[in-house]
Amino acid sequence: MGLQLSDGDIKSWEEVILLYNSALKQVNTKIEILNAEFQEVHRYNPIEHVKSRIKSPESIVKKLKKHGYDTTLNNMVKYVNDIAGIRIICSFTSDIYRIADMLANQKDLQVLTIKDYIMNPKKSGYRSYHMLVSIPVYLSDKMSNVKVEIQIRTVAMDFWASLEHKIQYKFEGKAPAHINQELYECAHMVSELDDKMLSLNDEIVSISAKMEKEKEES
Ligand code: GTP
Ligand code: MG
Repeated sequence: MGLQLSDGDIKSWEEVILLYNSALKQVNTKIEILNAEFQEVHRYNPIEHVKSRIKSPESIVKKLKKHGYDTTLNNMVKYVNDIAGIRIICSFTSDIYRIADMLANQKDLQVLTIKDYIMNPKKSGYRSYHMLVSIPVYLSDKMSNVKVEIQIRTVAMDFWASLEHKIQYKFEGKAPAHINQELYECAHMVSELDDKMLSLNDEIVSISAKMEKEKEES
């Protein structure tokens, strides 16, 4: 049985970062493989692009402090869920659930929590699908389960989240009310845009399927 990264396990900051980096590589590879398969087999690519990062030591410490925890390696592993983070950007909302399912169905990947901010957007208007997973990482003499936060969103959701993040950063989370209100309205427009683009795409797909069938029959 594998250990969830915990007390006895942890040797040093370097080792923890090595583990998170390895976990990130493994999940990135899984996504690359799905991407390649889609390219080859389905002639359709649900993934626009992928970004990944390891949280900076400063941000890790800041998050621990914010939640009132001492800055220990143990607390960091236990309480900071987004040390390793991957963001998958798709074209359509339906792609998000397709990719999430494909990842969740992989045996070595354990889904710890799901936060569906598409079905249940945040108060800010934020929409995105978050999956906290854990993946086994093997070092020379042991195996550790390492957490990776996966965020899956459409190009439009990502556009909104980037701007909103920039604004919150600039105003240190205290943006003027009318700006927050307008951002909220934009989030609604983004949601409508995603719905329209999806139904338009569905229609295009069904028309081209029909045309192909007619060509074969003639
Ligand atoms: P954090 O402490 O921010 O990590 O939040 P959490 O632990 O409650 O998790 P949650 O799933 O709510 O958010 C995790 C991440 O989603 C954040 O670090 C951001 O990258 C993103 N996120 C969440 N809410 C918002 C939002 O309102 N605006 C933007 N731009 N990003 C958000
Ligand atoms: Mg975070």
